[in-house]
Amino acid sequence: MSFKIPLFDLNYGADEIQALTDTINDNWISTGPRCEKFEADFAKALRAPYALTADNCTNALFMALLALDIGPGDEVLVPSLTFVATANTVKYVGATPVFCDILGYDNLCISPEEIESKITSRTKAVTVMHYAGFPCDMDAIMAIARKHNIRVIEDACHGPLSEYQSQSLSMTKKLGTIGDIGCFSFFSNKNISTGEGGMLICKDEVIYKRLKLLRSHGMTTTSYQRAGGHSTKYDVVSLGYNFRMDDLRAALGIVQLGKLKTDLVKRAQVRQWYEELLEDTPNIIVPFSAFHVGRSPKPLYSNYIFPVMLKQGGADHRDIVRDRLHAAGVQTSVHYPAAHRFSIYQSCHANLPLTEFAADHLITLPMYSQLSKDDVKFVAEGLINAVES
Ligand SMILES: Cc1ncc(COP(=O)(O)O)c(C=O)c1O
Repeated sequence: MSFKIPLFDLNYGADEIQALTDTINDNWISTGPRCEKFEADFAKALRAPYALTADNCTNALFMALLALDIGPGDEVLVPSLTFVATANTVKYVGATPVFCDILGYDNLCISPEEIESKITSRTKAVTVMHYAGFPCDMDAIMAIARKHNIRVIEDACHGPLSEYQSQSLSMTKKLGTIGDIGCFSFFSNKNISTGEGGMLICKDEVIYKRLKLLRSHGMTTTSYQRAGGHSTKYDVVSLGYNFRMDDLRAALGIVQLGKLKTDLVKRAQVRQWYEELLEDTPNIIVPFSAFHVGRSPKPLYSNYIFPVMLKQGGADHRDIVRDRLHAAGVQTSVHYPAAHRFSIYQSCHANLPLTEFAADHLITLPMYSQLSKDDVKFVAEGLINAVES
């Protein structure tokens, strides 16, 4: 089905095509100089000491847990209102995901209070997810982590360049740079699109070196180093995988990262139009609409998606509203079905009332930088009609 207004549109042009052509002409398409440049550019943009490309964020999260020595018998706290990979990766390492509720309907990020209440002697880490690129309460989460000696992984898939104003540090930090390791996705519909792709960032050199070994078979040198004559042999010092990005994707990532700030400024405008048009609509909540109040200067948010929440009616009613929008030519989605309600997690018996309400009432509306004010008006009016009819 084709929509008048799709959920997402790629921000691709001549520069991406040129980057691919140049990479092919340079005759090196697997992990090499473009991955290194993408890592250096990303680290600089986020003011992170170390960055490492990966084949996707699922494997980045998996490597993060391994690098932090999380394994069988351990528990890792996770949100349920997230893409299921945030929880599944905990299972990959043999640990148990423990689901936590969100803060509320205005703020869909994990609740620090829930985190603290679910800590046991087996808890080794928390993986937080910055929903739509709006930061979790990292001051509170880092204080809890320090108090209980647990690690913090940031699933920052939604938030490249998004900012967090830390009250305790009196400074603004980029998402992904606050905890022990930050993980990003460059899946095709993300703020940076490379088709598939991911990135890890961290500040500890020991962790960085572990991640590098995990990414490529535990080998001490890369094919690119050997091809360049910088080395002729390698040792395998630990068990690793092939979770590498290739230079074709890195070439796209470099161009996309270069455009990101401009793209985010346009998305902020799109969000503002939506907020103005949906303000005071009786049956609709716009999560995060109070987020910038009292924050000066206004932080940069990635606005990866634009979620709205119906105030009542349940999942069936929400799906009828979505069907009406689809019939009007507007594509929508749901971010997310609650992970703890998937069959695979039935045995967790998690009680997360706020997450369950959100999962049954959320609708994701189109969000991308090319949307015009008229497009946004069309979507907002379509939503109001769909809810009222
Ligand atoms: C919050 C979140 N975590 C993890 C992932 C997994 O990323 P990838 O598709 O790159 O493996 C995604 C991607 O959809 C995501 O949105």
